[in-house]
Amino acid sequence: MRTETPQTIHLKDYKPVPYRIDSADLDFQLDPEKTRVASRLALRPNPDSEESAAPLVLDGKKLQLLSVAIDGKPLKSDDFTVSDTTLTIPQVPQAPFTLEIVNLCNPTANTELSGLYMSNGMYCTQCEAEGFRRITYFYDRPDVMARFRVRMEAPKREMPILLSNGNPGETGDLPGTGRHYAVWSDPFPKPCYLFALVAGDLAGVHDTFQTMSGRTVKLGIYVEKGKEDRCAWAMTSLKLSMSWDEKAFGREYDLDVFNIVAVSNFNMGAMENKGLNVFNDKYILALPSTATDTDYVNIEAIIAHEYFHNWTGNRITCRDWFQLCLKEGLTVFRDQEFTSDVRSRAVKRIADVKTLRARQFPEDGGPLAHPARPSSYIEINNFYTPTVYEKGAEICRMMKTLLGEAAFRKAMDLYFSRHDGEAATVEDFVRCMADASGRDLGQFFQWYEQAGTPQLKAEGRYDAKRMTFELTLEQKTLPTPGQPEKRSLHIPLGVGLVGSEGEDLPLDLDGVGILNAPIIELTGAKKTFRFRNITKKPVVSLNRGFSAPVNLTLNASPADQLFLMGHDRDSLNRWEAGQTRGRELILASMNGSVPNEEAGNYASALEGLLRDPSIDNAFKALMLGLPPEPDIAAAIGKDVDTDAVLAARDRVRAALGSRLDPVLNGIWTATAERGPYAPDPAGTARRALRYAALQMILLGNREKGVALALEELAKPHSMTAEMGALGGLIQVETPERETQLEAFFNRHAADHLLVDKWFMLHAQAKDANAAARIERLSRHPAFTYSTPNRVYALIGGFTSGNVAGFNAAGGEGYRVVADAVIKLDGFNPQVAARMATGFRSCQILDAPRRTAANRELQRILAAPKLSRDTFEIVSRIANGLALPP
Ligand code: BES
Ligand code: ZN
Repeated sequence: MRTETPQTIHLKDYKPVPYRIDSADLDFQLDPEKTRVASRLALRPNPDSEESAAPLVLDGKKLQLLSVAIDGKPLKSDDFTVSDTTLTIPQVPQAPFTLEIVNLCNPTANTELSGLYMSNGMYCTQCEAEGFRRITYFYDRPDVMARFRVRMEAPKREMPILLSNGNPGETGDLPGTGRHYAVWSDPFPKPCYLFALVAGDLAGVHDTFQTMSGRTVKLGIYVEKGKEDRCAWAMTSLKLSMSWDEKAFGREYDLDVFNIVAVSNFNMGAMENKGLNVFNDKYILALPSTATDTDYVNIEAIIAHEYFHNWTGNRITCRDWFQLCLKEGLTVFRDQEFTSDVRSRAVKRIADVKTLRARQFPEDGGPLAHPARPSSYIEINNFYTPTVYEKGAEICRMMKTLLGEAAFRKAMDLYFSRHDGEAATVEDFVRCMADASGRDLGQFFQWYEQAGTPQLKAEGRYDAKRMTFELTLEQKTLPTPGQPEKRSLHIPLGVGLVGSEGEDLPLDLDGVGILNAPIIELTGAKKTFRFRNITKKPVVSLNRGFSAPVNLTLNASPADQLFLMGHDRDSLNRWEAGQTRGRELILASMNGSVPNEEAGNYASALEGLLRDPSIDNAFKALMLGLPPEPDIAAAIGKDVDTDAVLAARDRVRAALGSRLDPVLNGIWTATAERGPYAPDPAGTARRALRYAALQMILLGNREKGVALALEELAKPHSMTAEMGALGGLIQVETPERETQLEAFFNRHAADHLLVDKWFMLHAQAKDANAAARIERLSRHPAFTYSTPNRVYALIGGFTSGNVAGFNAAGGEGYRVVADAVIKLDGFNPQVAARMATGFRSCQILDAPRRTAANRELQRILAAPKLSRDTFEIVSRIANGLALPP
């Protein structure tokens, strides 16, 4: 058990540092256990600081200090003090001075993968958020921006490639030592979280990019030797991202080189270090035989995301970590727009809304709820959350909706010119939006500060005599931890009144006139909007494009929903109508049988869509996907039995599958692969539909589904085909799924990314003994807790992809996950805490499940030497569990 409660950091306590660091010259003598870092910092008193003659307190963790000197004079041991987390020098010059520090760090012992560590024989770094303090003593906070120059030395044969941020400088051999060195300098001041260093025996793939002003940038992607042939897609995606940012935002790249390194041990997806992005290799490496369509799409989007940070994050960084959504929310918004432009906007929006609902809504409605800009935290690593990222992106999108395309672009231009080179705040960003457009965003700002998903109730009433349509909107946000009272938000809502032919009726709003943008804004708790000259009874389509991240309930009849499903011009709402109908059908089937007529109507609506040749295959695939189990659980809201949810959902899928049998078979035949694989939008869409159809066939007609899956697996055309067929097969309990899983492992045991896929498939297999399977696999020779990807595949795949298995009423699912969290916490707290978030929705479950979850959460809390990371997550979740007396 922890003896003290860890310290909480508050936004309101922000203070500038007393000293600035203008430049940092770092010299690395790389060694697996004793890397020597010599740091030479140019400091001066900070004119923005209110303190005078304050002590210099630098951050440092797990370092061995060798020497300190000021202006060339070594300090004596009583001139400074060193603690586990700081180096304090009580008296420093009150004029510019040079601080020289020499220290050791141990990359081999670094199991947290934060700071300088070894991954598969190479040196690499991860400094965001607070990893730089594990390399050398520094002000490890984003508002301290310095010019970095790096020199590194390593044995030439083992580490021929030496990389850091910025532009390459001098390189050379050190005769007689077998060692060589390289110098890198970054002309742009940056916070230390953007520092990176890589050394290893890597293969480089090279290309160039011509920027809009005609400069040539050298591009490099570095991977393990032998993987060079898997980098082509990443390189294509990088060039596409660079030219998109020029066109869409006028942003040009600013260094002579841009390098990416792929590593196999990495806590996150990827990292935007200036000029040297570091990627989890699963988001770089791709061949048709090793990567699925989803992998290709993810690689493209993540390369774009990290590249876009060069402006939103690096050139303009964050004042403090409370402003995280300033760079992450905005950059997610930018990568979403990129994917919309290079693929399908309609499909991308639906995909993003699906993720928001699957990840952010549950967070916002449970014990881990927090504002997009939190006001306090214990461990910043716990705040790289769906709320900061995805809700943060939604907030940017809403401002674009409110301002309109042109004013939004003007506001972004203003942001880039006004804050370039600065460490900014969310207020700075919103001020640019307001200044460029003249709009008052005062109330809108609440979106950043208030947690919880607003509930929006809408009621439409048509008056045929007066030819008016009245739409009454009412908003309410439920209390969240620490925020008992909620205010009204400024909510922009896309709206359409759909006529019987599917046409949009003109929107003539009482008191305003014809709307030029089909947007209405709700600012108070309740308001009625009156539309005039409505000549026939319309069906209202509200929150079009998912213009605001709210939970909408609308007084629409099932018939209206089916109508919108078939006719709404807004594709998001067409899909949304299908989701609503599907959810209601599943809820109606909870008692054991699927209502015949409703299922029939739903199936006919789907069939109409599926048979329409003018509709995109990707959209058809999305329409076939029923709402996931957590959506159903959230709609039930309390005392949820997750087995009953799974059973009801499967019953509905089976009912639809058998009703749609002919059309699904037609799809299967029509979508067969005819040529070589290409990850283009059309092929991706066709395959998405193919495997969505297979899923339904498997539920509706198991024998046939199994036969089709086996046929596909006997001669798989691509990894997409393998995963599509096997991913379907694992949903149903058959002996074939076990033999096919085994065959997959035997085919791919040599490829670590495919072994991850194998663990993930197992984790999602639905059956009554799911937890025992996880337990067994955690002892498999190929399993290890020290590689995050493997943990995410098995444990993360279980908590998020196997809702019924994880929440088994006997508590065995919770037990295996708690065991994993406790084990992981000893050497990688970040990953442990991430896995613990799997418990975040237990408060809506029935009493036996809540009791079982609490038992395991308490067991984690009682573990000796629990990290701050895991403590913060687990204690918040445990506090939110209303336990039966
Ligand atoms: N800056 C983050 C990576 C990061 C987060 C590093 C937290 C250290 C701690 C990066 O830009 C990022 O957001 N990566 C995402 C993927 C992205 C496409 C949303 C990730 O790693 O999951
Ligand atoms: Zn990011």
